[in-house]
Amino acid sequence: MPAARSIERISLFITSQKPLLAYNWVRIASLLHRPHPAAVLAASEAACYSLAMALVDVSGLPQHVAIIMDGNGRWAQARGKPRTAGHERGADAVRATMRAARRLGIPALTLYAFSEQNWERPQVEINALVDLLCECLVSERNELVDNEIRLCAIGRLHKLPQRAQARLQSLTSETESNEGMTLTLALSYGGREELMDAARALAIKAREGEIDPSDIDEPAIERLLPSMDVGPVDLLIRTGGEQRISNFLLWGSAYAELYFTDELWPDFGANSLYCAIQAYQGRERRFGLVPDAEEDLPTAKTSNELERAI
Ligand code: FPP
Repeated sequence: MPAARSIERISLFITSQKPLLAYNWVRIASLLHRPHPAAVLAASEAACYSLAMALVDVSGLPQHVAIIMDGNGRWAQARGKPRTAGHERGADAVRATMRAARRLGIPALTLYAFSEQNWERPQVEINALVDLLCECLVSERNELVDNEIRLCAIGRLHKLPQRAQARLQSLTSETESNEGMTLTLALSYGGREELMDAARALAIKAREGEIDPSDIDEPAIERLLPSMDVGPVDLLIRTGGEQRISNFLLWGSAYAELYFTDELWPDFGANSLYCAIQAYQGRERRFGLVPDAEEDLPTAKTSNELERAI
């Protein structure tokens, strides 16, 4: 194997296993009498990745990260492969991102895995996505259990094929007492649909005299939004180059910091997450307050509490 390839592989191995060790590459490269250009490149790339993790301030982590995983199709098409190949690699990116989030200590990660609008895609792609979901719900079981990850699902789950519902039900029950991190899969999910369902439920309660319409406030609505079980979104990431919300977590993202990256979802991983979190940590979150009042920034859970704090 040519020297450059081996250096690249070793460097990739080091960065994927123990990122902080990659600093050593910089030192190795600088100690070489005539460093091979590939060694210098690998060293600097490795160091960047390590720095990405090292620069994350674990005391200021977003408590809820939500991701719009876009770009699977383009990733596959660029390689002359069927779109489903992109979704398969997308599942690897899900695992890498989930591990990284758990390792950092992020309490909640919500992934947009299938939107309500995705039902309009070709049936063959829908079937492939459902099959992939079913496979992952089996193959990732140990990953969730061993890492104390609680699996949740939001969306119009009754629209999923029975086999997917059964596997979801089984793994969500098995992991329900895990406290390490909550991984929520948004499946057949739409933010407007979630709000419509809540509005309908409130209207029924009002009609049956269980609630007075004048008592409908933000907490009353949030109690009916399954996506709010893990609190509002702090950091909303979208891959694939588009800059829109696409009907994801509309209520919970009201004060989210938005992070858009051109990276296609299958290429996303631990280091991409670290970069997104660093960007988040560089933002000033004011929740409508003025900078001088920063020290009084609310730690409120509900939007209503935020509103009152202003
Ligand atoms: C958007 O990319 C992606 C999806 C609609 C599906 C997301 C699914 C995965 C990441 C697969 C595995 C996930 C789980 C939870 C098992 P796109 O197809 O719209 O990409 P494009 O914009 O390039 O066409």
